[in-house]
Amino acid sequence: MIISASTDYRAAAQAKLPPFLFHYIDGGACAEHTLKRNTTDLSDIELRQRVLKDMSELSLETSLFGEKVSMPVALAPVGLSGMYARRGEVQAARAAAKKGIPFTLSTVSICPIEEVAAAIDRPIWFQLYVLKDRGFMRNVLERAQAAGVKNLVFTVDMPVPGARYRDAHSGMSGPNAAMRRILQAMTHPRWAWDVGLLGKPHDLGNISVYRGKPIKLEDYMGWLGSNFDPSISWKDLEWIRDFWKGPMIIKGILDPEDAKDAVRFGADGIVVSNHGGRQLDGVLSTARALPSIADAVKNDITILTDSGIRTGLDVLRMLALGADSVLLGRAFVYALAAAGEAGVFNLLDLIDKELRVAMMLTGAKSISEINSELLVRHQA
Ligand code: FNR
Ligand code: LAC
Repeated sequence: MIISASTDYRAAAQAKLPPFLFHYIDGGACAEHTLKRNTTDLSDIELRQRVLKDMSELSLETSLFGEKVSMPVALAPVGLSGMYARRGEVQAARAAAKKGIPFTLSTVSICPIEEVAAAIDRPIWFQLYVLKDRGFMRNVLERAQAAGVKNLVFTVDMPVPGARYRDAHSGMSGPNAAMRRILQAMTHPRWAWDVGLLGKPHDLGNISVYRGKPIKLEDYMGWLGSNFDPSISWKDLEWIRDFWKGPMIIKGILDPEDAKDAVRFGADGIVVSNHGGRQLDGVLSTARALPSIADAVKNDITILTDSGIRTGLDVLRMLALGADSVLLGRAFVYALAAAGEAGVFNLLDLIDKELRVAMMLTGAKSISEINSELLVRHQA
């Protein structure tokens, strides 16, 4: 059954990728309740159909931190994208640039900042994780600035990786993981040739450049656990705020009190996110968390959101719930794994079309006209 382009691409990605990579992308924390609710809570939100409003002039364009975008969508930072497709970060960035939307490069990407920034005309966004080795932060921020990055996305919901049991079962981590991954690559020859062989080098590009030697992926989950810094607090952000001249966006806010702190701190934006259900299972879906955060800070800060967004309808729903724009995670990653740059571009084109139809039939002629009036209000 075809539900959306991203379900099709998900199936194609599952067929192509070795299971350890597919499940790393697809899985969430613990029993994956939040992962599931991200999509079901969102698709449960009902829209009001409105008609006869002359929708001949319709625009999806808007701006984000002073940057013009063709629709209120950006690609989320996704670690290891260069393992899902050959030089995957470059392919996804090209598709985003062609579509006129931002691409966010993860700290733990395969391709380093310099390689991705040089591949497209538009400035990329860069996502920062705090490593225990603080020298890395200054180095990577200087390199990001030199590569023309303006928008810094600072992710704060990963002081430690979530408990992701699928990874232990699939060979991403756990006993004999390296051997199991080799066997999986052998039984997925299309991936082994295209990405495993021709997509090298496979190391954490940004960190390797800093350390001057390849940071390999043998024990990636273990590496995250031992190098990410659980002592991170608002204090660490002050140094970055002083250093970074461009907009600073805090990713991983799920509570109105933290959103208010982000405003007090002087952030330019927040991403309302539960990390795609990968961190703390049992927290609210973003569709449910967003309205009270929007109530608390809507006029003070730019609100982005992610987690569970798969279609153009979902984009409209999130904007109606109070977001200014969304980030796509798995939706674009499945397309990248299945069909590279062309797949991501096609996915973005379909999201554009779905959003256009949804705006036409809810009577919103521009992005600024998308608000809670478009949603069915249920009696309490
Ligand atoms: C992520 N996410 C993520 N976030 C981040 O700030 N830095 C990162 O390196 C990563 N890496 C990463 C890898 C993979 C495989 C996934 C699926 C996700 C989280 C990501 O930016 C985003 O918050 C979620 O993907 C949103 O949820 P959906 O859209 O995937 O449901
Ligand atoms: C993840 C990290 C890398 O979700 O953000 O796997």
